[in-house]
Amino acid sequence: MFEPWTGAIVCFMSDCLTDIVAVSDRPGVSRWHAVAPSGSVVGSASLRPDLPFPSSVPSVPELRLYVEPEQRRRGIGSRLLTAVQERATETRLATDVAPDSPGESFCLRHGFRNPRIRRHDLLTYCDVHQAWLGELVDAEHPGYRLTHWTGDLPSTAGAEALLRGPSRPGNAVLTAADMDGDLAAYVVAVVGGQLQPRARQYGPTVFPEHRGRRLGRWVNAALIRRLREVHPHVSEIETATAGDGRHSVGTLEDLGFRLLRRMRRYELTL
Ligand SMILES: CC(C)(COP(=O)(O)OP(=O)(O)OC[C@H]1O[C@@H](n2cnc3c(N)ncnc32)[C@H](O)[C@@H]1OP(=O)(O)O)[C@@H](O)C(=O)NCCC(=O)NCCS
Repeated sequence: MFEPWTGAIVCFMSDCLTDIVAVSDRPGVSRWHAVAPSGSVVGSASLRPDLPFPSSVPSVPELRLYVEPEQRRRGIGSRLLTAVQERATETRLATDVAPDSPGESFCLRHGFRNPRIRRHDLLTYCDVHQAWLGELVDAEHPGYRLTHWTGDLPSTAGAEALLRGPSRPGNAVLTAADMDGDLAAYVVAVVGGQLQPRARQYGPTVFPEHRGRRLGRWVNAALIRRLREVHPHVSEIETATAGDGRHSVGTLEDLGFRLLRRMRRYELTL
């Protein structure tokens, strides 16, 4: 007599009516939606490269997972994660969660390990001292030359290949320093679209044989200036770095970036 009710309760708790659907709307990014019977999207997962383009630095793809607050604790996040695991070709994935949050409990429950501090910093253009920025960009770095590239980032070409090609309209700005054509340092910013005021910055990366010459600060200052010229609607830039990278944090602070939040980066071995 009670069986139908029991069945209904089990189904509600585990939300078996919500479909997990793969969506492919952005090149290089795998995405899934959790779709309720009403057709509304109540959760999503995505797996994207940690770096914006192929690089010699090993990278672990980044998982983003979100479930609408009123739909949580019904297993939807777990089902989205299962969909990601079934499709992923990589051996590891990483995700950033706020300390002591539901996201952290979820990660621990699902076997994510090795938490490392990751700080997110934000630069707001109205706080940038233009004269200081100009001085940094114009400072002499004997033997080195600044170059820029703009366009949409392809998933196959690295920084060197892009810098050899022509610029075109697109959502990314790449600024680099080279010595006689030999790439020494670079930094990239990607904008989200016309309505999104916040760009995401990756780097700067300075190659080992070119370190100690303040090239990271140089390319970053030049990127900040160029990004605003190409995308005037951008009003802030967010970047994430390993929490123990004292040197890179010092460079960011010099430029006007300020700590936004500290996250914990967990990794899952697949
Ligand atoms: C993290 C998140 C995606 C979880 O989604 P969800 O649909 O609630 O997850 P599930 O129902 O599948 O939870 C699975 C298990 O994770 C753990 N968990 C999830 N939320 C928890 C919470 N608030 N407190 C304690 N444990 C929690 C539990 O062990 C849970 O199993 P149980 O409900 O049987 O106890 C959701 O809380 C969210 O969108 N948070 C904000 C974004 C975020 O932090 N994303 C990073 C996640 S990698």
